[in-house]
Formats: sequence, C-alpha cells, structure tokens
Amino acid sequence: MATKDFDIKDLSLADKGRYKIQWSAQEMPVLALIQERFRREKPLKGLKVAACLHVTAETANLAKTLAAGGADIVLTASNPLSTQDDVAASLVVHEEMPVFAIKGEDTKTYYSHLNAALDHQPGLTMDDGADLVSELHKNRTSQIPQIVGSTEETTTGVIRLRAMAADGKLQFPVLAVNDSMTKHLFDNRYGTGQSTLDGIMRATNVLLAGKVFVVCGYGWCARGIASRARGMGANVAVTEVNPLRALEAVMDGFRVLPIAEAAAIGDIFVTATGDVNVIDAPAFAVMKDGAILANSGHFNAEINLTALQSMATEVRRMRDYVDQYHLTDGRRIVVLGEGRLVNLAAAEGHPSAVMDMSFANQALAAEYMLQNAGKLKNQVYTLPEELDREIARLKLHAMGVKIDQLTAEQEKYLRSWEEGTA
Ligand code: ADE
Repeated sequence: MATKDFDIKDLSLADKGRYKIQWSAQEMPVLALIQERFRREKPLKGLKVAACLHVTAETANLAKTLAAGGADIVLTASNPLSTQDDVAASLVVHEEMPVFAIKGEDTKTYYSHLNAALDHQPGLTMDDGADLVSELHKNRTSQIPQIVGSTEETTTGVIRLRAMAADGKLQFPVLAVNDSMTKHLFDNRYGTGQSTLDGIMRATNVLLAGKVFVVCGYGWCARGIASRARGMGANVAVTEVNPLRALEAVMDGFRVLPIAEAAAIGDIFVTATGDVNVIDAPAFAVMKDGAILANSGHFNAEINLTALQSMATEVRRMRDYVDQYHLTDGRRIVVLGEGRLVNLAAAEGHPSAVMDMSFANQALAAEYMLQNAGKLKNQVYTLPEELDREIARLKLHAMGVKIDQLTAEQEKYLRSWEEGTA
C-alpha cells in the first residue's frame, strides 16, 4: 500500500478496533465458513474491489473474507456518520487495507473518499445505497468498461438501480443482495428493529414503555421497528401510503393513521420509508413539545430538516446525536443523528448475527459475479435461490437447529396433481 493511501481518523485506535472485529466475528459463523473456503480456493484472485459500505466491525469481517479470497479491496464509507473509527484504523494497520472513512465527515469529504476508492480502478464495486455506481455513471464513465459488475446491499440502492435499468442507463450488471431472503427477512426486519431502538435509547436514554411511538412506513425495516417498539411496551402507530402494507399493519394489531393525525399524538417518530419529506412542516406545526424524531431509512431525506430549521430560533445539541430545535411558539422538537440512519449514527448498526447472513450473500455475490463475467446483461439480478437456501442451512447448522427433510413419498406428492380430496 502506498504511504498515506488511506484517510481515517486516528491510527492509534487500531488495537481497540481489532478486538471489536474479533468480537463480532464470533457471531458470524457463516461468513467464517466462506472465509475458510475462500482462503483455500482464492476465487477472487486478482479482483480489485471498491466497497462503499458502513465501516463497522461486521464490514471489516466481510472485507477480510474478500481479501482471503484473493481480492484487493479498498473501503469507503456509505454514510458520513456510520464509520467506526477504531475499526477503520485496524483495517489500515493490521490488514494493510486502504480505507477512506471518518465518522462525522462532511459531504465534500464523503465524495472525495468515494472518488479515492474509485481511483483504485476496481473491477467490481460493492454498494450500500448505490453511490459508487451512480458516481461511475455520472462522473467516471471511462472506468465503466473495466467493471464486471456491482453488488447492492440495501433496498434504497436496489430501487435506484432498478430505476437506472428501466431507463436503459445501467452500464453493467448488478446483484441485488438485498433481495435475497436471507438478507431482507433478517437484516432489514430483526436487524433494523433492534438497532433502531438501540440507537434511540443510547442517544436519549428515554423510556419507551407507554410512549406513543409512530413508525412511518411498513416495509421490512419498519415492521421490525414497530414490532420491537411494541415489545418494549410502546403504544405503536403506523403511517403508510401502500394499502396492502397498511392493511397488514392493521392486522398485525397496529393503529394506522395519516401522518397529519399521527403528528399530533406521537412522542417518538421513526421514518423508514425510503422516500423524501415524510415528516414535513405541517407535521412539525402540530407536534407535541419534546417530540423525538429519528430516521432509519438509508438517506437523510425523510425528515425535512430544512423546513424544521426555518421554523426554529435556535438549535441546541443536548447530548451526542441529540439536537433540540426551539420553535418560535416555544415548543421543542428533537432530532436524533442529524436525520441520518439512527442505528448507525447513534449505535453500532445491526448485530453481527444478522450481518453474518447479509455479508455471506455479499461474499457469494462477488464470487458469482466473477464466475458469470460477460454472461449477465446490464440488469439488476437476485442471487440464485439455491445460494440463499444454502446460507439459511449453514446458519441453522451454526445455531444448532435441526430441521426435517421431505420423505420420498412427500416429494412425490408435492410433484403430483392427480391427488385431491380423499
Ligand atoms: N447496515 C446496518 N447495520 C450494519 C452493520 N452492522 N454493518 C454494516 N452495515 C450495516
């Protein structure tokens, strides 16, 4: 690695980061198995990978797995507030990996880091939010011919990429890791559910029991948040625009209502919709004094902070990641983590045990992309179902859970159509 081929906060944090990475590895047995195989088989030999992911202990274990497979990897943050600086330091010091990520970096630095990663001339990109793919298509098109493809971690990124493909703009294939069942059913639901509450609690230390807790959206992430908030004794309400999801929320036992009504009764609000200005000026106008707002969607666009700022006379930082907006009428509205992903800004993101499956998908997606180089169209693909099932099998095995197998008679029955009411 060239001297200074990295930009991180503080190299002296490396040893702390190394223990954190080891701690998280204990909960990532599926990724460990893939890492062992990669070390033997070197399926990624010579592949340059630029990964734009949240720089966490779990991501470090993915990066080590890719490196074990022979990849030459450079890492940049996928959010200005999600980097764990000690982890970044350990990757640079102990793994000699180029890392460009500093917690709290401004937008200009964020993009300069992204570009530093692309300066490594990757053959494969790995995104969480599609920023690398977007940068390549907007500003660095000359690099596109050398890209085999990309993998995408999150719902928001997959939506962006499908929009690019539908417009005929996508210039290389993408594997939507998010769409594997072993990803979104667990990471989005149980991971976001737990880590979002973790972020809110670490930032504020407020009691959730008895609070009116409004969840905006009812996709996989929002479902997890709603269910975990209910588990903590909160009185949970859901806002939705999709009638099917709204109906599901109703039948899951949640009160469903428009944001205009929810705004007036909520104590805590969490957005997880993937859309813009979900909580906006009309909602701020009727909120209770002290209402707490957090976002768990990928981008910091779900709470209209510009509108809130324009209604405020002063913004006070009460605690780390807790900004109190003082409105002209005397009410205070509290925003956590500057409206960025609260689970990664104010806590540590999803627990390692779910990232184990997400990142097993990422590692296998990189291998699959290379095995299928030149065969895939410039579209967004899902990983083959067999790989998804294999990850689930390995996870169950690691958890010591055994399951039944179909008998020959049952297999035959499922394939037949002749048999009906006996
Ligand atoms: N996204 C959500 N949680 C994460 C984690 N712990 N590591 C990497 N990406 C994440």
